[in-house]
Amino acid sequence: MRSKKVIVALDSSNLNKTINLVKILKNEVYAFKVGYQFFFNYGLNGYKKIYAICPRIFLDLKLHDIPNTVKRGIKAIIKIKPLLTTIHISGGDEMMQSSKIKKARTKILGVSILTSLDKKQTKKYYNESKLLLLVKKFAREAKKNNLDGVVCSPKEIKFIRKEVGKNFIIVTPGIRINDKIKSDDQKRTATPENAINLGANFLVIGRPITESKDPLKILKEINRTIN
Ligand code: C5P
Repeated sequence: MRSKKVIVALDSSNLNKTINLVKILKNEVYAFKVGYQFFFNYGLNGYKKIYAICPRIFLDLKLHDIPNTVKRGIKAIIKIKPLLTTIHISGGDEMMQSSKIKKARTKILGVSILTSLDKKQTKKYYNESKLLLLVKKFAREAKKNNLDGVVCSPKEIKFIRKEVGKNFIIVTPGIRINDKIKSDDQKRTATPENAINLGANFLVIGRPITESKDPLKILKEINRTIN
């Protein structure tokens, strides 16, 4: 198994810059994350350009719909062969089960509670102000419904790992190289080393790498600290 654990988030709206970045970083990543911004700007053609350079993609489109629609969506996604893709756990048991397609190489990750929701919002929409309780419940249900893993914030890794055991993938965004420097919108952060020690399998890292002067150097440094 490859020991690379970093998934670089391609959130730029400059296609050429993104392609260059993929060329530079491809040997040091586990995969590249293609999300809304990239996919809805550059579509399937853009995706294929990235795939042709590095066929290791986390397609993060967070599907959430009735089970039949999600099943059809996932069947279409499988054709373009990402390693990982996402659905919302809140879509329910049947929706999660319908996302599992036999023999597909694409692993399905569940998104639990969006990290942008605070206590007031979780109370309002899920009738629960204890975020951690909700996140643990969602992770448990994702496992029961045979998803391959979950996406969660660094602060939740330890609790989720206890809940789901070893053989369940935990992917974590919100990674910052220096925990003390807070210069952007990520609030519940951890360093790469912390996140791996807490039990994450893969780290999604965007701006600390993509907006640095020397992305390859930063990525190599991160790889060194987590190996
Ligand atoms: O630039 P940064 O390292 O903050 O990028 C993190 C990536 O992870 C972004 O693509 C962001 O959308 C995604 N993400 C996140 N927090 C979540 C879920 C996804 O930051 N809870």
